Amino acid sequence: MVECITQERSKQSSFLTKFESTFLAGDVRFRGIGTVTEGIGMLEKFERYPLTFGPTHIEKLERLGAHLGGRVELYAKREDCNSGLAFGGNKLRKLEYIVPDAIASNADTLVSIGGVQSNHTRMVAAVAAKIGMKCRLVQESWVPHEDAVYDRVGNILLSRIMGADVEMVDQGFDIGIRESWEAAIADVKAKGGKPYAIPAGASVHKYGGLGYVGFAEEVRAQEKELGFAFDYIVVCTVTGSTHAGMLVGFANDGRERRVIGIDASFTPAQTKAQVLAIARNTAELVELGREIVEDDVVLIEDYAYPAYGVPSQETKEAIRLCARLEGMITDPVYEGKSMQGMVELVKKDYFPAGSKILYAHLGGAPAINGYAYTFRNG
Ligand SMILES: Cc1ncc(COP(=O)(O)O)c(C=O)c1O
Repeated sequence: MVECITQERSKQSSFLTKFESTFLAGDVRFRGIGTVTEGIGMLEKFERYPLTFGPTHIEKLERLGAHLGGRVELYAKREDCNSGLAFGGNKLRKLEYIVPDAIASNADTLVSIGGVQSNHTRMVAAVAAKIGMKCRLVQESWVPHEDAVYDRVGNILLSRIMGADVEMVDQGFDIGIRESWEAAIADVKAKGGKPYAIPAGASVHKYGGLGYVGFAEEVRAQEKELGFAFDYIVVCTVTGSTHAGMLVGFANDGRERRVIGIDASFTPAQTKAQVLAIARNTAELVELGREIVEDDVVLIEDYAYPAYGVPSQETKEAIRLCARLEGMITDPVYEGKSMQGMVELVKKDYFPAGSKILYAHLGGAPAINGYAYTFRNG
């Protein structure tokens, strides 16, 4: 089947070969126009399969900053607009370093797991479609929900449209390795398929932390163009590899503790331990040359309440505030919580006056469709 599509493609287009990224064309023709192309130093020895448009934009959140008193400057790095693949988001940076391994393994099916409204499983479905593999997804019941169509809209709807084989499993939230996922991998094998296993959030994978090392390299290069450096980076943390990768990347210039993780898991001890383990593995892979210690993981636990995937009143207010002042959409599961965290930390003077703060917007907006009741009046 893959062979067939490849032959068909090669008739249409001479520059694509089997499993070659179509984003390579973007690399050559469209990048480099006022964008940063340098700065992959720490990742040079790793194979990367392009899935994104290139360096993501940094924009100033002028009105939000002024609304909060103007003591600090707020910026957002728009990882949510990083690709044309099914609305993009943070998982694509991670998957860029995992896909070469999947292709080399001769797999024919990507197998992954998440909650019903997982952004990650949507991204795996998109990548499988794009590279011509099958996709098997386990969607666990991680979130108590009030919308009748919660399991029909948003991320899961998109995954179904992209042809993923979606299995609903009645298990609660847990970022660890799950039996349901192992059973799905075994089932693909039993049916004669060749599975490639991608854990929740693409995090506990040997290459899961590399993509966000690249984020730090990219920020450093963008800072040269901007003429200033960021004092803090705010990031939402759940399965841990986004934070872990950033931590390792920014450790290269001594800013590892300036990466402020906002927990959205509501199981912070497990999340923190997972960030540390991934950061240590990633530091070794990229030959950072120094050890990552527990205190390097800054994880603020105060904004994940009342549960994973359930927005508090304050999270909803932060989502509305950011939407109404900046037109920037954050979701009730992840980014709304880190937005709430950043807003409240600014209000508490956690950041010294004059600080430049970079909010990593990691995506996730499709999930908001599962929260129509919450936002029925705006
Ligand atoms: C939109 C969004 N933000 C933040 C996160 C947290 O990233 P990580 O799981 O790497 O900690 C995720 C995924 O879990 C996500 O989909």
